[in-house]
Amino acid sequence: MSAMKFFMPAVNQMGQGCVESSITDIAKLGFKKALIVTDAVLNQIGLVGSVAEKLGEQGIESVVFDGTQPNPTCGNVEAGLKLLQENDCDFVISLGGGSPHDCAKGVALVAANGGNIRDYEGVDVSAKPQFPLVAINTTAGTASEITRFCIITDEERHVKMAIVDKNTTPLMSVNDPELMTGMPKGLTAATGMDALTHAVEAYVSTIATPVTDCCAIKAIELIRDNLETAVKDGQSMEAREAMAYAQLLAGMAFNNASLGYVHAMAHQLGGFYDLPHGVCNAVLLPHVQSYNAQVCPQRLADVAVALGADITGMTAEEGAAKAVELIKELSARIDIPAGLKQLGVKEEDFPTLTENALKDACGLTNPKQATAEEITAIFAAAM
Ligand SMILES: [Fe+2]
Repeated sequence: MSAMKFFMPAVNQMGQGCVESSITDIAKLGFKKALIVTDAVLNQIGLVGSVAEKLGEQGIESVVFDGTQPNPTCGNVEAGLKLLQENDCDFVISLGGGSPHDCAKGVALVAANGGNIRDYEGVDVSAKPQFPLVAINTTAGTASEITRFCIITDEERHVKMAIVDKNTTPLMSVNDPELMTGMPKGLTAATGMDALTHAVEAYVSTIATPVTDCCAIKAIELIRDNLETAVKDGQSMEAREAMAYAQLLAGMAFNNASLGYVHAMAHQLGGFYDLPHGVCNAVLLPHVQSYNAQVCPQRLADVAVALGADITGMTAEEGAAKAVELIKELSARIDIPAGLKQLGVKEEDFPTLTENALKDACGLTNPKQATAEEITAIFAAAM
C-alpha cells in the first residue's frame, strides 16, 4: 500500500442544535465580517436571517449572497466574490447543501489565490489555502462541507469542472439534523443516493485504505437502515441524524479514496442538462458497478453484505450482482427515476458526454479504466 494522507476539516460539529455552539466557536476565532453564501429558498424561509442574527449577537457582521444555482456556475462564483471584496469580508460561511458549499469554496479559493475559478480545474492547482470557510450543512448529502472537492459548472462550455484541491477544505463543518428535517422527499432521496454513491465508489476505488473502507462500509449500513425512513418520514430526527452521520462518513471515505465513473459521468449529465447530481448518480450507480464487477467482484460482494444481503454460498461475482440488485431496489423504493431517458438524456449527446467524462478527474481511481466505447455503453445501459 502506498503512503496515505487523510484530509478533513480540523473541527466537525455534529448533532441536534449544534448550529448554536458552532456560532459561539466561530466568534472565538476572531472573524469580523462573514460573506454568507446560500440560495434564495433558504433565505426566503428565514434560515439565513436566523444565522445572521446569531452572528450579530456575537459581534460578527454579515453580507448575504443568495444567488447560488442548483448547479453553481462560474458566474455565481464571480458574483459572490465581488460581494466579498466590496464588503471587505474576512471569512465565508456556506449555508445549504452541496451547491452553496461548492460555490463558497470557489469564492474563497479565488479570493485567496486571484484569477478566475476556471484556472483551478484539476488536482491541487492552487498555491494558497482559501479564505477561511465554515460550512453549515442542510442536506445529507454531498458531504461538500468536509471535502476538498468543488464542482463548478462552466456555463460557456456546458461542463462541470472538477476542482479537487486540498486548499478548498473548509475550516469547520457543521451538521445539525434539525436543519435537515425541512428537506422535501425528492431531495432527501437524491442526496441520500449521492451519499451511497460516495461510499460505494470510495470502497471500490484504486486508492482505498483501511481507514476509508471503514468509513464507507459504516456509511452504507446507516443508509440501508435509515434512508427510506428519512424519505418517508422527514420529521424522524433519528433517521435524519443517522443520515447526517452516513453522509459525513461517506464524505470522509471519498475525500480520501476519491470516486469513480459514476461521478465522472454524472457530472457531465448535470452540466449538460442541468440535472440534479444525486439523481444522475443514483441512476448510473448500478450500471457502473456492473461494469466494475469484472475487476473487483469481492469488493462489491462486501457492499452487498453492508446493504443487508446474505451471500453465504455465493461466488464473489454473484455477490457483486446482488449489490447491483439491492442498489436498484433501494432506488425504486424511494422513487428515483429508473433511467436516463426519463431525465431527458438523448443518445445523440453520448459522444460529447463520453469525451468529457473521460477527462473528469473523478474517473482516475475507478477500478477499471474504460475506453470511450465502454463509457458510451454504460450510458446506453442506463437509458
Ligand atoms: Fe456526489
